[in-house]
Amino acid sequence: METKILRINPLNPELDLIAEGARYIRKGKLVAFPTETVYGLGANGLDEEAVKNIFIAKGRPQDNPLILHVSKIDEVRPLVKSIPEEAKILMEEFWPGPLTIIFERSSIVPDIITAGLNTVAIRMPNHPVALELIEASGVPIAAPSANTSGKPSPTLAEHVIEDLYGKIDMILDGGPTGVGLESTVLDLTTDVPTILRPGGITLETIRHFIPNAELDLSIISSNEKIVPKSPGQKYRHYAPKAKMIVFTGDVENIVEAIKDRAKKYEMEGKKVGIMATEETKDKYSQGSVISVGSRKMKGTIARNLFNTLRKFDEIGVDIILSEGVEMGQIGTAIMNRLKKASGGNIIKV
Ligand code: TXA
Ligand code: MG
Repeated sequence: METKILRINPLNPELDLIAEGARYIRKGKLVAFPTETVYGLGANGLDEEAVKNIFIAKGRPQDNPLILHVSKIDEVRPLVKSIPEEAKILMEEFWPGPLTIIFERSSIVPDIITAGLNTVAIRMPNHPVALELIEASGVPIAAPSANTSGKPSPTLAEHVIEDLYGKIDMILDGGPTGVGLESTVLDLTTDVPTILRPGGITLETIRHFIPNAELDLSIISSNEKIVPKSPGQKYRHYAPKAKMIVFTGDVENIVEAIKDRAKKYEMEGKKVGIMATEETKDKYSQGSVISVGSRKMKGTIARNLFNTLRKFDEIGVDIILSEGVEMGQIGTAIMNRLKKASGGNIIKV
């Protein structure tokens, strides 16, 4: 398949390019586009055949439901059974933005979108290209992250090209995305509003509006037996090719533990990658050290995380030793992605 790559202005998208993307969407084709979180792989969300092709291109398990993307709050109504009061408040406050809300679905939502569940995930992305593409298409756009299933989500068009070139119809290249981690997924269909996937809109922020909101237990617990409520959270995910170990605790202890391990693995002849931070990067003398950002600016760590994991793949290391960050605010989302990327391989030091 030929993949058309179009450079598009992220702040002020060229109308003819948006029109061409929208034409592709309406014809049932697959179009990757930037959002404020990560690149999405879009298809007409009301067209079963088109959505089926998303699963094929990504190699995505069929039991993992997709998010529908809208460009206006009004577009939610036909897709859901009802709109809870909390949802109205949160949509007003955070849309467009990195918050996905789970509603009870209506009958026009195809089964393939919801993977047979009676709920549907909806969000309004905060990116001019995404918003204008949805609006011009005139349909909700189903869009998972535009990576091969299991790999780190794409924060640059180059990542999409690496994973999906030749498998999808178009890539709108709008440069780097902003948040760098996928949206927060909040379930409002349960008694207690529950965050199923932490992201850019944090629990702390949501609690200002919905005081009884909680994190799904599987996000906080290190017990791998607790089954996540969101199907996508049960897979090893965001994963580099190399084995990965994450170290948490006091920063000094983390650095010492990583140095010890690095020595050990290098003696075994392994190529070691160290995911460090600005504050610690000069303390390591072994391995390929990449700083993921400053501990004082966790937003930067979020933005760089997936790209850094891909860089270790490029270097071709056998093992990645990664520093952890403190939980709370965006740190919770960062630790969630590190947990998934390492397959739960977290050591407290
Ligand atoms: O930031 C984002 O959300 C990006 C951009 C492209 O918008 N999209 C994204 O989609 O991350 P995806 O498919 O990679 O992740 C969607 C997550 C999965 O963990 C999935 O299991 C969950 O949302 N999800 C979707 N529908 C759900 C539902 N009805 N109930 C529970 N979880 C659901
Ligand atoms: Mg994904």
